[in-house]
Amino acid sequence: MKKSTLFAALLLTPVVALAADADNGKELYDETYFEREINGEMRDDVTCATCHEPAFYTRSDRMASSYKNLEQAWVQGCNDKMNVGWFPEEVADVTAYLNKTYYKFPQE
Ligand code: HEC
Repeated sequence: MKKSTLFAALLLTPVVALAADADNGKELYDETYFEREINGEMRDDVTCATCHEPAFYTRSDRMASSYKNLEQAWVQGCNDKMNVGWFPEEVADVTAYLNKTYYKFPQE
């Protein structure tokens, strides 16, 4: 590897690791299809939106209580329960998207 390439790679890595990407999160949220039984019917075209309308995230008795709780309990929770298979970075991106669009928790 050329020295300049290595230097560029070193410079870029921390930036990618730090900032969760809400735009990528939106894409993942809208376009990740997984298998799930819905109303007794096995489907392979289920997305998060199959179960959650936007109003679900802004209702007064919603369950997520902080940015961290949203990420660790809820986005991670549905990712696990539905066997979606998102990596932690992807869960972080989807959390950033949901927070930016609906929850608006301060980011610690
Ligand atoms: C098969 C239906 C289903 C699918 C598909 C699903 N969820 Fe959920 N989700 C639930 C249920 C059930 C709850 C808990 C609601 C309750 O207990 O009232 C929940 C809760 C949540 C919450 C917490 C909402 C709150 O009250 O603050 C979030 C965030 C969430 N889901 C995100 C996701 C994401 C992201 C996906 C896509 C990977 C997803 N869900 C896919 C059923 C689903």
